[in-house]
Amino acid sequence: MSDKKYILVTGGAGFIGSHTVISLLEKGFEPIIIDDLRNAKPFIINNLETIAGKPILHYPIDCSELNPLEKVFTEYEISGIIHFAAYKAVDESIREPLKYYQNNIGSLLTVLQLAEKFKVANIIFSSSCTVYGEPKDTVIVDEMTPIQAATTPYGETKIMGEKILSDFQKANGNLKITALRYFNPIGAHESALIGELPLGKPANLLPYITQTGIGKLEKLVVFGNDYSTQDGSCIRDYIHIADLADAHVKALQNALESKTGFMDAINIGTGKGTSVLELIKVFEKVSGIKLNYSIGPRRTGDVPAIYANAEKAKTVLNWTATRTLEDSVLSAWNWEKYNSTL
Ligand code: UFG
Repeated sequence: MSDKKYILVTGGAGFIGSHTVISLLEKGFEPIIIDDLRNAKPFIINNLETIAGKPILHYPIDCSELNPLEKVFTEYEISGIIHFAAYKAVDESIREPLKYYQNNIGSLLTVLQLAEKFKVANIIFSSSCTVYGEPKDTVIVDEMTPIQAATTPYGETKIMGEKILSDFQKANGNLKITALRYFNPIGAHESALIGELPLGKPANLLPYITQTGIGKLEKLVVFGNDYSTQDGSCIRDYIHIADLADAHVKALQNALESKTGFMDAINIGTGKGTSVLELIKVFEKVSGIKLNYSIGPRRTGDVPAIYANAEKAKTVLNWTATRTLEDSVLSAWNWEKYNSTL
């Protein structure tokens, strides 16, 4: 028997997955990346190995396909699974719902079938604050905030994912499952060798800002400044990707240490709200660049303000965000500059 703790990381070449691979290595785990690179670039694997200073196990497998994935479970004694592999473009999910249900739900079902067959008890699931929809009376949400009907197929796959996991755990009481509900992940690894890599025009705010700053895009449009927030622009909880990655390792350690099974959902955010205009100011400060932006109409479906009550992560996982917003934006900017040299 090997003394290595192998952790299966599906979608491990993606934005959150790749940073989690580094956090796992830092804590002595042996990650096995399952990623067919449909939404990532091969150089990310090379750069991960540069950061790690050693080869990293990587299998280019579609994790909704049982047979190739089963081979990996046969080959390694897997201690835990962190399941990231999923599509995440909200707009695309409205246009191509079947693609989202097939991939996001299909891959989860395959992974769980194998977890059951090979008795892997520790599972972390990539969920989202999107499950809260637009909360009725409050902008700061804790885990008791009711889950609302999803407005997009993407959001629906996260709600369904949590429900499937909950039913699965009820049927297999020894399983230790944590759904992490992310707020808005931003930033990059301090080495600037890995980061967020939007294929095509970015949908998310910070990559849009940094690509505008570097001159790849002409101008950022702020989607509305007439919300009832302090400066009129929307408020989100932007969390440094390295903090988010660490939260996965804490959740994994918590599961490994627990003697009893559970299904839990935990918010991962900073607990602080930042407006779009504030984020632009932080970018201008850390980069020294005056951003070209204008105010445009609201984007359909945007929640005016939402941020995390992150107390549960502190109590249950002993985790809190440690990096500042400036750290996050600067790391994203360094990554953008690195990208422009590729
Ligand atoms: N924004 C702009 N201009 C842009 C892009 C974004 O003003 O060009 C604004 C948006 O209106 C919003 C804020 O920047 O107020 C953040 O937008 P993002 O698209 O970066 O993030 P969202 O909070 O809208 O979406 C995120 C995730 C989704 C997830 C959703 C809800 O990207 O996957 O949170 O949980 F579904």
